Amino acid sequence: MRISSVLLGAALASNVLSETSPLGLRLGMLLYPGYQALDAWGPLDFLNILSFRTQLNLTIISPDGLPVPIRTSNPAFTRSNSTVDEVVLATHSFANAPPLDVLFVPGGVGNRDVAAIQSSIDFVRATYPSLQYLITVCTGAGIAARAGVLDGRNATTNKRAFYEMANHGPRTWWHSKARWVVDGNVWSSSGVSAGMDVTLAWIQHVWGATTAEDLAVGAEYDWHRDPSWDPFFGHYNISDVVNGVTMAPSAPTPTPTPNIAKPRPFVR
Ligand SMILES: *[C@@H]1O[C@H](CO)[C@@H](O)[C@H](O)[C@H]1NC(C)=O
Ligand SMILES: *[C@@H]1O[C@H](CO)[C@@H](O)[C@H](O)[C@H]1NC(C)=O
Ligand SMILES: *[C@@H]1O[C@H](CO)[C@@H](O)[C@H](O)[C@H]1NC(C)=O
Ligand SMILES: *[C@@H]1O[C@H](CO)[C@@H](O)[C@H](O)[C@H]1NC(C)=O
Repeated sequence: MRISSVLLGAALASNVLSETSPLGLRLGMLLYPGYQALDAWGPLDFLNILSFRTQLNLTIISPDGLPVPIRTSNPAFTRSNSTVDEVVLATHSFANAPPLDVLFVPGGVGNRDVAAIQSSIDFVRATYPSLQYLITVCTGAGIAARAGVLDGRNATTNKRAFYEMANHGPRTWWHSKARWVVDGNVWSSSGVSAGMDVTLAWIQHVWGATTAEDLAVGAEYDWHRDPSWDPFFGHYNISDVVNGVTMAPSAPTPTPTPNIAKPRPFVR
């Protein structure tokens, strides 16, 4: 590896990049019909404020570039005959999305539609190799798993859907008790609101603790800084799933498959 990349990687790891960094980051938010609103808009609210002080460009990507609804034909929406929906304009489709440095993948019941979600899985698979970071929220980890991105990695996901998502990643160490998990350049968070905590942690990693703290305070948000903080784990009878095997809570765990992907520094 080039020395400059190694040094930049070390700089990122020790948070010495300041918010005056000239780096302009190209962010992407993948929105598919039936995504979970807060999974996307929690992180986006922090990024909106951060963009006041550092250059961030955001692309909102939907499968076909069309407006993205919250409601789908999933029974979760249809059984009550409600009309609650928020439809968001996308800026790009999978076909014309620009190059990205960071991709956010929210969860949501829409990713249970096997046929409809396939293009999102394919997009994550195709885009991941050129990303600096992939950040999944909630069951967005299931999309990354189906894209093969979580193979040989540690990850977490929504605890209510834990085993369902773990089934999508048979070569992953799924952590049952974690607010978020970092493995190389893949940051995966637990359910819904955990996306706000992982986003602040990632902002701290790139821009420093002062910036992340200021965003949390500005939003009057009680930021959980400890990735092992996970009271929601206790609501479910779950334990880690390692390479497709559900661990007994106290059983010895097998050695995970090696993590071959390394963190990548911001270089273009
Ligand atoms: C971000 O957008 C601005 C305004 O269009 C542009 O000048 C800048 O080059 C973009 N930065 C990146 C990294 O694409
Ligand atoms: C929803 O609409 C269907 C079809 O009109 C009707 O059969 C059903 O009773 C409705 N359910 C509720 C909860 O309103
Ligand atoms: C994955 O998680 C296990 C269990 O916590 C840990 O021993 C291992 O070091 C982790 N691997 C990476 C790459 O973080
Ligand atoms: C929790 O799950 C384990 C299997 O994973 C099962 O043996 C045990 O009975 C369950 N406990 C409760 C309280 O459901």
